[in-house]
Order: sequence, then C-alpha cells, then structure tokens
Amino acid sequence: MSSSELRQKFLKFFEKKGHKIVPSSSLLSTDPSVLFTTAGMQQFKEYFLGKASPYGNRVTSSQKCFRTSDIEEVGDTTHLTFLEMLGNFSFGDYFKKESIEWALEFLTKDCKLKKEKLWITVFEGDKEVPEDKESREIWKELELAEGKIHGFSREDNFWGPTGEEGPCGPTTEIHYELSKKPCSLGKKCLPNCKCGRFIELWNLVFNEFHQDKDKKLTPLKQKGVDTGMGLERLVMVIQKKSSVFETDLFSLTSESQEERIIADHIKGSVFLASEGIIPSNVEQGYVLRRILRRAIRYGKVLNPVRDSENREKSKKERISNGVKMPKNFLIPLAQKVIEIYKDVYPEVKSKEADILTIIQNEEEKFAKTLEKGNKVATLKITRAGKLTADIASNLYESEGVPLEISKEIASSKGFKIEKNIDVYFGKFFKKHQEISRAGAEKKFGGVGKKAGLEEAKLHTATHLMHQALREILGDHVKQMGSDITSQRLRFDFSHTAKMTDEEKQKVEEIVNQKIKQDLEVKKEEMSYKDAIDSGALAFFKEKYPEKVSVYSIGDPSDPSGQVFSKEICAGPHVNRTSELGIFKIKKEESSGAGIRRLRAVLE
Ligand code: SER
Repeated sequence: MSSSELRQKFLKFFEKKGHKIVPSSSLLSTDPSVLFTTAGMQQFKEYFLGKASPYGNRVTSSQKCFRTSDIEEVGDTTHLTFLEMLGNFSFGDYFKKESIEWALEFLTKDCKLKKEKLWITVFEGDKEVPEDKESREIWKELELAEGKIHGFSREDNFWGPTGEEGPCGPTTEIHYELSKKPCSLGKKCLPNCKCGRFIELWNLVFNEFHQDKDKKLTPLKQKGVDTGMGLERLVMVIQKKSSVFETDLFSLTSESQEERIIADHIKGSVFLASEGIIPSNVEQGYVLRRILRRAIRYGKVLNPVRDSENREKSKKERISNGVKMPKNFLIPLAQKVIEIYKDVYPEVKSKEADILTIIQNEEEKFAKTLEKGNKVATLKITRAGKLTADIASNLYESEGVPLEISKEIASSKGFKIEKNIDVYFGKFFKKHQEISRAGAEKKFGGVGKKAGLEEAKLHTATHLMHQALREILGDHVKQMGSDITSQRLRFDFSHTAKMTDEEKQKVEEIVNQKIKQDLEVKKEEMSYKDAIDSGALAFFKEKYPEKVSVYSIGDPSDPSGQVFSKEICAGPHVNRTSELGIFKIKKEESSGAGIRRLRAVLE
C-alpha cells in the first residue's frame, strides 16, 4: 500500500464514522506562543474549549507538522522534523470507547496489522489526575491481553497543551512491536524502551482539562478526543521497512545517518520555504536557516566520495574544514521532495521556483560564512589552545559560525572543549536572539514597520555618504552630528569650505554606485579599542560603551578583504545596499565654524 493510499484510507475510514475531512492547516501557527504547527489538534484548539466548530463535532485530517523537539534524534529510524499527522477529533461528541475501538478496527481490519503486535500504554495516575482505569478496561474488553497493557506516568501518557495554555489530558498510546528480540532489560523492556523493539504509532488524547498559564488544571465542561498517528511511521510498518526513510515518503536507497539527516532537513526546508519563510536569525526564519545549514554540514561528510583529496580526512574534519561541497547539492534533493508531495500539497509545486532560490541562496551564503568562519575559528581556538563558551559565542556573533562547527574544529584538532559549553552558549544565544528579535521588531515590526525600514535605509545611506565625503573632500571629514527621521538624513561634518556642485554630484554618484553594487551590510560586536584599531570610524563626540557594534559595508567576496565603509554605530541598518533606492543630496549649508551640514533623501 502506498503512502497516498494509506492517507486516503485513514480519512475515508473516519469519514464513514461521521467525521468531516478537514484540510491540513499551515505550518505557521496562529498561536503566537508557538512557532509552528506541531500537532493536528492545533487548528481545532478553540473547538475543544467550547467554541462551535464550523465543521461539526467530528473531524479528521492529515496535518503537516514541524517539530524541532526531536532534532537531535533525527538520523535514527523513526524521528523526523517534518511529519504528517493523521488524526480524528471529537469536540464534546464521542469519547474513550469509540476512539479506542475505532483505532483498533482501523489498524487490524483496514491496515491488517496483527493484534498480537500491538502494545498499549495508559495513564497510571498521579497526585493531580487519577489513573485512567476506563481506558484499561476498554482495551481489556477488546481482548488485549493484560500483559500488553502498561501504565506510565505524566511524561509519557499525558498530552498538551500546545503553547502557553489550552486543552490537555491523559492519553492511551498504541505501540507496535517491530521485533521479538528482547533487549538487555529482559522483561522490563516495554513500550517506550529505546532499544528499537517498539515503535509508538498512535496517540489517543482524552482532553478533559484546561491548563492555564500557571499550569493549573481545571476540568473542561466538554470532553474531547484528539488523536495523532505519524503517517511516516504507519507507512513504515505497513510497507515492512526498517526505517521511515525507506518508505515511499523518502525512498532513500543507501542509508547512512548523515543521509537521513539531510533527507529529513531538506524536506523540512522545502515545506517551511513553501510557507513563505526565509532564512534569517530569528523565529521561524532561524529554524529554517538552522536545518538548511545542518543539512549542508552533513553533506560535507558524504562528499569525499567525490573528492579524493578529502577522502582521507576524518569525519569530523570533513564537516568542519574546507571541504568543498558540490555546488547546489541540495537542489536535486529538494526537487525530489517536491515530486513526492506535489499532488497532496500543491503549494510545494506552485512555489517551486521560490523554494529552490531560497535553498540555493542559503547554500551560497553558508559556504562563504564557513570558508571565512573556519579560518577565524581555527585561528582563535588554536591561539587559546581550547574552545570556551566565550570564544564560541564570539565566533557565532562575529562570523556566524555555529557552535557545532566550533566544537568540531576544536575536537578535530585535539583541543579541549569547556565543560558545559552548551549551557553557557545557550545562555548567550538566548540573549543574542532576544536582541536580534528586538532589533528586528524595532526595524521592521510593530506599528512603525514602514518608518523603521526607512530609517534603517537612511542609516546605511549615511555611512555610504560619510565615506564618499572622505573620498571627495579628504580624510579630515569627520562626523560631528547626525539626525535621521523616516523621511531624510541630516549629517554634520568637519569641513571648512562650502561644497561645490561638482563635489556634491560626485558624492551622489559614489553613493549610488555603491547602492547598485548591492554590497552586504555586516554587523560585528567588538571592544571599542578593537573597533578603532581595525580602522572603524567613530563619531568623536560620542561616549561609547565597552562593547560596540561595527557595521561594514562591502563585497564579502572581494579578494582584498577590503570594505568600502566601516563605522561604529548602533543601527538599525538594512542587510544590503540594493534596498536603498536612489540617493539625492537636497541641501548643503553651514552649521557653525568649520562644520557643514548636509540633508539628503532616498527616492
Ligand atoms: N496531539 C497529540 C499529539 O500530537 C495527538 O494528536 O501527539
């Protein structure tokens, strides 16, 4: 049975039981407290809480889900970031008995799985919520042997809520026994054992409570059912494969852990990109960047087959060091994903061009980051003789080098890594994300979205103009003041004579030429002293803090490594000069002895 047939079979089964088939919702969650849709119930959340459902009280769906919670486990036989969740839902309609009976019926009759291979878990109860005896009884009545039904705690058999608050409740789970091979735990090897004997197939959640922001549970007026079964896992069992990656939802032929990771991440990337997400340093964009870059890194491990020079290098060295990837190796993989899903999720086909462009651009960006980042990281780590969280944080902030890469570089060269580096880096990273987020909000978010963007453009234009003035009038030009609104820039600088029309025109020409060149605007954090030593311009009247941001505008692929402009500044700035438009000087006048004032706009 193909995955498409199975998906349909599931939906039709529940349609026959009076459920309305509802299409998958977007991967972008409407709940601001979560980034993605991680479960089928999310789009129905409020119907569990009593709001009338426009689809009636029984619905079924196959939902696109994206989860980063299992990312470290991706690469084994069953864990994924992107998955499809088959589910049936009841909003105050049927409850435990029907849910359990139908689940068993679907698996044993429609999917022809052997009942003997099914194992059941139920909630064993704790101080707050009583044991779910009812579910256990129902399973027993269905002739599931007592020895196959096991109680587990909250961690395993209680689900929800998604986000900060919402419906939740005890669960009963159906696990499938893949092999008879007992593990070293002997009789204690039960469902949820990590040995690979069992696979968790279907989670039936009985929403009986509402959990509020303080984690307080209150019984819901109306009880609900929320079930979720990973399509990939069901297909794996039905198609008798030993991993989800061998099913027709992936069709990987030669499997290594790296290949699985790449296959998972590229699929996730295709679906995230199809939702209009683009790689960035915050929120969903950051997740997309992370999985794409992770896929690229793992691609490097596989590459040596094609690159004899690097074949001898250790795996770790290959990931971190200058092993060149075949260009755009992710593109054919993304096309394969689109091919597999185009009929079920037409958005991946209609957005194909965008998706491929996003992937290609990120691949190129990361290649550049890695090339330069690796050199700097190797230098810094070698100089220190070890990798500390401080060094890793600095490498991430200034060069975009991910922690994993810094670690790989350090260990491939035999340097020690600071204990608990993940924890320390995690703290730094959280702060960094908050700052980036605040910056992005200030720049582009909220009410002042448009105004913020205009200001960012004018900040960048000011830097270009400052450098152009120095080129035309001389190095004595220094910033004496600056005032930027969303409409115009105003810039005071040291210079004695009135500017001629020709000089003004030349300054305009240089700025517009730099805009046309689409230069990158790069931000780095460093000490004030390092900034000045590295030649960054500063506004001499200003008192700067210990750590400052330095914005460089230049072409990162320029072999000389020289940038056009480098200045200490608090921003905000745009990412590329091409965003600016056309630069025009509006007025030039005196602003005191030896000081000139320029007003300019972007059109
Ligand atoms: N919400 C539950 C889960 O995601 C069941 O659908 O596992």
